[in-house]
Amino acid sequence: MIFKSLAKSNANWVSLAIQYHHMSGVKERIDELRRRKAQSEAGGGQKRIAAQHSKGKLTARERIEQLLDVDSFMEVDSLVEHRCRDFDMDKNVIPGDGVICGHGTINGKVVYCFAQDFTVYGGSLGEMHGLKICKILDMALKTGAPVIGLNDSGGARIQEGVASLGSYAEIFFRNVRASGVIPQISVIMGPCAGGAVYSPAITDFVIMVDKTSHMFITGPEVIKTVTNEEVSFEELGGAGTHASKSGVTHFTAENDDDALEIVRELIQLLPSNNLEKPPTKLTNDSLSRSCDKLDDLVPENASQPYDMITVIEEVVDDGAFLEVQADFAPNIIVGYSRMGGHTIGIVANQPKILAGCLDIDASVKAARFVRFCDAFNIPILTLVDVPGFLPGANQEWGGIIRHGAKLLYAYAEATVPKITVITRKAYGGAYDVMSSKHIRGDYNIAWPSAQLAVMGADGAVQIIHRRRINSAGNPEQERERLVDDYNETFANPYQAAALGYLDDVIQPRDSRKVLIKALGALLDKEETRPERKHGNIPL
Ligand code: HXC
Repeated sequence: MIFKSLAKSNANWVSLAIQYHHMSGVKERIDELRRRKAQSEAGGGQKRIAAQHSKGKLTARERIEQLLDVDSFMEVDSLVEHRCRDFDMDKNVIPGDGVICGHGTINGKVVYCFAQDFTVYGGSLGEMHGLKICKILDMALKTGAPVIGLNDSGGARIQEGVASLGSYAEIFFRNVRASGVIPQISVIMGPCAGGAVYSPAITDFVIMVDKTSHMFITGPEVIKTVTNEEVSFEELGGAGTHASKSGVTHFTAENDDDALEIVRELIQLLPSNNLEKPPTKLTNDSLSRSCDKLDDLVPENASQPYDMITVIEEVVDDGAFLEVQADFAPNIIVGYSRMGGHTIGIVANQPKILAGCLDIDASVKAARFVRFCDAFNIPILTLVDVPGFLPGANQEWGGIIRHGAKLLYAYAEATVPKITVITRKAYGGAYDVMSSKHIRGDYNIAWPSAQLAVMGADGAVQIIHRRRINSAGNPEQERERLVDDYNETFANPYQAAALGYLDDVIQPRDSRKVLIKALGALLDKEETRPERKHGNIPL
């Protein structure tokens, strides 16, 4: 009996000892987890964080906090480590490997994101760093959520050689596969050089932070060696350059905060994927509000300019317009607004600049915009005042034929609702290109000031009546009479309306009311094109 109870009490002691041992093991393990996570969170350490701040830049973690809804971020792969053993890299391992990845929400909408951490190996992209980004792209595609990349990197991690290049290409491949399926947004918040620029270039939107971000294929020193040109970082690949000269960037932000706010704004306008419709937003702006200002906007004199932005701000909800690529090819305007609460994409000629002519840059800018809208079910409103394609040898040699064809192709291919308003000139090939009825505009209307013709009166009269003018007693008087005659025939919308090329001619002040009604009737439009692997847009 005594023996039995002794045995029992011994067993209790053993069990207690095991429990104690187990508990201390658990504590150690939890401590280790905490240590590893803390190391990952610390990134490259206080000194490098201070250096980042001194440049006016936020850290990768601060950027994510700022981008997403409070407490919504869930990090993945914070414990991923590189496996490079060359150049003493085995002695320099920082969990997370220089990129912070995960998902969160923006105004409640799920998004995937990654932020390169410049404090860790200069944000350089090694094998594992790249594969972390790939995992985010895969998850975003699988779940049909937008993906946002915050780029701040010295490029390919030199110590990792081709493994780094391999991971880059894995990213590029995924960017292409996700193109037209989920919106992809790149924010450039530091250096982005060499082939690294190609991931942002494939994505739908590039936002650059003024002064602190740079994008180029080869830097100023290499350029100096190869071509002897001298150019500064800023001049070569700063935000200003890419916003106005190259058209690489869609938005220029004043600082990191501003850039992240632009992303939040975009996410609110766009659908999460190509199977969804864009979100709607209630408005107090009356759907039948009269736009009185528009009745007097278009000048009597056809060569006098006016600001097409006024038309946009008058007709859309609350005058709110998010212009895209505002400083590139400003002779055409593209951007997003809402009408009756629905997101719309707007393409509009700007008569204030180059008389609103279509040139190479304008065609490419608008074509890419139209294709984005079409991929993501965003109806397109086109406002037309275009005297034609820009004449000139440089335009011809630069390939205006194939670039102009891109815009024609994009409009003809688009199956989203397409609404067109001709405010003044719609001349020549540009009439056809700018979402005309013939390339399947759904609702095409004009203001009474519209002029639809092969070309303007002066040029036309010179071509068809030259002999008559030259042989007239008073050639100038005859020319004027013939110009008036031509204008009487073509400088109005009624020939086109009689042919059914225009669905209606409306008073400008009724534009908002009419357009919202038309949009409402078109929202459920379904149209298909013949099946094919893909078309062959003239690139
Ligand atoms: C490894 C890098 C790195 C890189 C920077 N670092 N770039 N480490 N691979 N590519 C490290 C630095 O050693 C340094 O580490 C830290 O990051 C910060 O760099 P600094 O030079 O001190 O910073 P800063 O003066 O601000 O200059 C930033 C920089 C410069 C302009 C980005 O570092 C630079 O020129 N880096 C090389 C850029 C480059 O040529 N990359 C390859 C491009 S070609 P410590 O430990 O001192 O903090 C490419 C091909 C991609 O990327 C191909 C894809 C297909």
